[in-house]
Amino acid sequence: MKTATAIAHPNIALVKYWGKRDTALNLPAVPSISLTLDGFRTRTQVIWGVEEDAVHHDGQPAAAAFAKRVTDFLDIIDPNRPPCMVLTENNFPVGAGLASSASGFAALAVAATRAAGRTDDRTALSALARQGSGSACRSLFGGFVEWKLGSRPDGRDSHGVPIAQRSYWEVAMVVAVVNEGPKAVGSTDGMEASRHTSPYYKGWVDSAPADVEAAKDAIYDRDLDALGRVMEHSTLKMHACMMAANPPLLYWMPATLALMAEVRELRASGISAWATMDAGPQVKVLCRRKDADRVREALTPHARSVHVLRPGAGARLDEEE
Ligand code: PMV
Repeated sequence: MKTATAIAHPNIALVKYWGKRDTALNLPAVPSISLTLDGFRTRTQVIWGVEEDAVHHDGQPAAAAFAKRVTDFLDIIDPNRPPCMVLTENNFPVGAGLASSASGFAALAVAATRAAGRTDDRTALSALARQGSGSACRSLFGGFVEWKLGSRPDGRDSHGVPIAQRSYWEVAMVVAVVNEGPKAVGSTDGMEASRHTSPYYKGWVDSAPADVEAAKDAIYDRDLDALGRVMEHSTLKMHACMMAANPPLLYWMPATLALMAEVRELRASGISAWATMDAGPQVKVLCRRKDADRVREALTPHARSVHVLRPGAGARLDEEE
């Protein structure tokens, strides 16, 4: 019996991933760019070699569907593995469009490979985490990260690549939580519905690489207005694509629109603040760190809770163990 514990943080896409060219391996149809955040985190312990598989989430036996995703992932690491115990906890809502699957599978990849006695490098861990949840491949790295499309059929070249460390730029992501309930349609189902039924899907896929290049240039230049513009363009295109699916997919709530209007007001008052939304109604606002308290004040009346998060570190072993 061997054990290892890892910590990982969620990442929020600045240029979105939406659509798969291979659903089994989670190979993306588009490249994407993200910012890893501190503050929110997943901590996961894996015990390799117990009596029978067991998955616990926040101290309780996990729901069957969640447990199956976890044990299927362990089977990818070693199809002949012994039964394992996985104990995972989050300090933020799960399955609500706050990237809990990203931090979850990044932490699981680090902890499970170590518990299995492997010493994969960070790039290999990123490609592995991708198979649990696509966006998890970006949480292996801190700060600004690009997820490369790759071209290999086995997916080994589709992984996160660091663009800039977390200390590179004094920005903040202000997360306005509108509803903490789990989403009605998971991201894989939503992506497949978009691919098969949205007339805008081709336009979404074809236009994504240019957004990634524009975002990278803006990050290199530390040009927040340029980054914010391409970030909002990417998120609104992604949501337009899913709204045009049949049946339609709409994750927004009235408060989502109120928060977007508030962000436009902030800009009109001279604050560089930019909104992005994922597969949920929450609004995440990118701004300068010095403006974060002002942004939080503006968002608070429309949200259940508001969190100011700074750029965070990549997934790592928890050395306390
Ligand atoms: O990694 P998944 O399958 O949970 O997909 C994440 C999709 C979005 O959060 C909507 C966008 C992104 O790039 O993270």
